[in-house]
Amino acid sequence: MIYVMDFVAKTLFSLKKMLSSGSRQSVLGLDIGSSAVKVVQLRKEKERAILETYGEIALGPYGNVHIGQSVSLSNDKIVEALKDLLREANVKAKRTAVSIPLKSSFITVINIPVLPDKNISEMIQLEARRYIPVPISEVIIDWWIFPEEEIVEEEKEDKDGRKFMKVLLVAIHKDTISTYKKIVSELGLELENFEIESFSMIRSSVGRDASPVAVVDFGASATNVAIVDLGTMRSSYSVNKGSQDLTLALSSSLGVDFKRAEEMKREIGLSDLPEHKEIVSIMEPILEYVFTEIKSVIMDYQKKNKQSVNHVFITGGGALLKGLIDFSVKHLAVEVTMTDPFLKTEYPAFLGGVLRKTGLSFSVAIGLALRELQ
Ligand SMILES: Nc1ncnc2c1ncn2[C@@H]1O[C@H](COP(=O)(O)OP(=O)(O)OP(=O)(O)O)[C@@H](O)[C@H]1O
Ligand SMILES: [Mg+2]
Repeated sequence: MIYVMDFVAKTLFSLKKMLSSGSRQSVLGLDIGSSAVKVVQLRKEKERAILETYGEIALGPYGNVHIGQSVSLSNDKIVEALKDLLREANVKAKRTAVSIPLKSSFITVINIPVLPDKNISEMIQLEARRYIPVPISEVIIDWWIFPEEEIVEEEKEDKDGRKFMKVLLVAIHKDTISTYKKIVSELGLELENFEIESFSMIRSSVGRDASPVAVVDFGASATNVAIVDLGTMRSSYSVNKGSQDLTLALSSSLGVDFKRAEEMKREIGLSDLPEHKEIVSIMEPILEYVFTEIKSVIMDYQKKNKQSVNHVFITGGGALLKGLIDFSVKHLAVEVTMTDPFLKTEYPAFLGGVLRKTGLSFSVAIGLALRELQ
């Protein structure tokens, strides 16, 4: 039985009957978002990822704000919310992967000179110091080297004949990691991996398309955009506005409280009925701002790489906004598709409807769990 509590109380659902005992083969993906925490438990069976349970709980009520609102909570409060979530979703697995917000990390693409007397790791560490805004001793870095055939000629060599390689550089502050480690251990779980949320979202959202696509995670406080080619992230950007800004705008323009504004956003969305014109006109400028930023990330990528991005995938809870696809097609003038985060998992047929309707906020949690199964 799935149970869906009214979102006015807490957004939470679980599949209590589907549970296994949470064997060693079961893994958890844990996404601590700014407005809600999500968990997904998967098990591997004959190379297939079986959905065992999943659940989501809004964080607002733990910080005395409304559902759908972003909130900055103490670690104790986050642990309390997660305990409720794990209990309600009847989670049994221990092996956990947790996501790190894009905002708490640093991702950049750099061209670094190839030095004959140094190995790749030394070269990258050396250059990383110039780009990472905090002392290198305080971060954990990781990188991915672009295949040579994908780099445009101008980036391979400078006018003095010096050779360059192109690297996607990732850094996470050690303090951020220790915070997440502490939270996971207080829950009695085993932290196996952590990953910046954009990488997880990409894993559940897109395949290995042979031409670049953009993937947009429309969250509560931020909208993250990633350009992905052959299944791998090529660039990423975080727009500092998300779906809660639509609610805040409705609340202040119409003089209604956040709860009422949130209901209006979810029920009416970008309706084209004449009686909804005012509501839509309040939300549109914010969406225009967000989509103009997305468009410039795409244009920038196209210009630098001489490749066109013709397809945009949208995911995240904010993507549930009615009419968002039409709005984004109009604004971006490319094909736009809502992702199906549970696509790479197997679940009972009766769940198909609810997962398609509400599953968009699980793309990060599923991507994390899928990685653990690999
Ligand atoms: N049916 C709906 N229509 C419109 N918006 C919705 C709907 N359902 C949820 N949302 C919005 O989605 C947002 C939550 O999405 P999500 O769970 O992806 O955010 P988050 O991960 O907590 O945030 P962030 O990624 O920014 O930290 C909220 O702002 C909520 O109002
Ligand atoms: Mg999120």
